[in-house]
Amino acid sequence: MKTAVPTPELLTPLDNDQVKAGVLALAQPADRALRDNLSSHVPFIEKVSGYILFSGGKRLRPVLFLLAAQALGAKADPRYSAIFEYLHAATLLHDDVVDQAGLRRGRPAARVEFGNDAVILVGDFLFSKSYSLAAEVPDHRFVRALTDCTTIMAEGQVLELLATDRLDLDYAGYIDVIRAKTAVLLAAACQMGAIYAGAEQAVVDVFYRYGLELGLAFQMVDDALDYVGSEHEFGKPVGHDLREGKITLPFIHARDHAPEPARARLLELAGLGRRQPEVLEEAKAIVRDQGGVEATFARARAHAAAAQQALAGLADRAGADLDLMLGLAAYVITRRS
Ligand code: IPE
Ligand code: IPE
Ligand code: MG
Ligand code: MG
Ligand code: MG
Repeated sequence: MKTAVPTPELLTPLDNDQVKAGVLALAQPADRALRDNLSSHVPFIEKVSGYILFSGGKRLRPVLFLLAAQALGAKADPRYSAIFEYLHAATLLHDDVVDQAGLRRGRPAARVEFGNDAVILVGDFLFSKSYSLAAEVPDHRFVRALTDCTTIMAEGQVLELLATDRLDLDYAGYIDVIRAKTAVLLAAACQMGAIYAGAEQAVVDVFYRYGLELGLAFQMVDDALDYVGSEHEFGKPVGHDLREGKITLPFIHARDHAPEPARARLLELAGLGRRQPEVLEEAKAIVRDQGGVEATFARARAHAAAAQQALAGLADRAGADLDLMLGLAAYVITRRS
């Protein structure tokens, strides 16, 4: 089924290889900062933290922080980019417990290696590390932005938990979940880069808006890849969301647009025995056949375009850094991992 969502053209000042090279250049200092700031008196904490941190993440959030500051003419200390990856790693540790996921970044999830109890506690350590780092930055807006962000993220994960198995979850409810659990962290990374650069509030808000729209697009693509991605490329379980009762946009679109009897069949399958492989496969096939994945990519494109539009007000700062921010928005739609 064709989607009614318009698919705006995305600006592509850089191709994907150029975007990847730009990200890598910023990810290297970020990686060093991750190693340099991880110390604990408890060696086991360093072991579990190291297991998740140095397993090949894309480093999108620390890169966004450094890039935002740089786009405003400031060279941020990479030390503070670690805030965002520590936080991200903590949420991944907790997320894999909640989602009962066994695979992360192409290898056994930390909870499989060390157990749920250990990864929950080490996640708390990583949260705390990011707050400690943020508290070093004198501009009071900096740590405030972080705590605002983590408060909303906690709400997001709880909202998602409460929405588990809610087959009637609507689009607005879905957006509430993904904004809170994912997008606000990308937003905060950009916002805090701008704060670090000493930007005035209106400019800080532009960066927040960019990160938020990018984050919405990013999670939508994640949710689409859960239906059509390859586990090998994705590095984490595919087809897992529905199995866990996570109602995401591909499902919502199919549910709301499928003709009968496909719609009734989808709801029947989703309601009963989803954990049986054949039931799950049939449900996923209906979601795909009814255009749920295409519609999700189309919505993601719209948010990526909105991220690019948010930057339009910064035209006087045009240059390589803004190009990379524009390029990143186009890249998230094509990512497969
Ligand atoms: C995974 O984030 C969690 C989501 C918000 C979808 P990433 O896709 O950025 O994970 P890594 O860090 O690259 O592994
Ligand atoms: C992202 O949602 C939640 C976080 C903010 C960690 P997912 O549950 O879809 O993330 P993945 O797919 O496991 O990385
Ligand atoms: Mg998960
Ligand atoms: Mg999850
Ligand atoms: Mg996912």
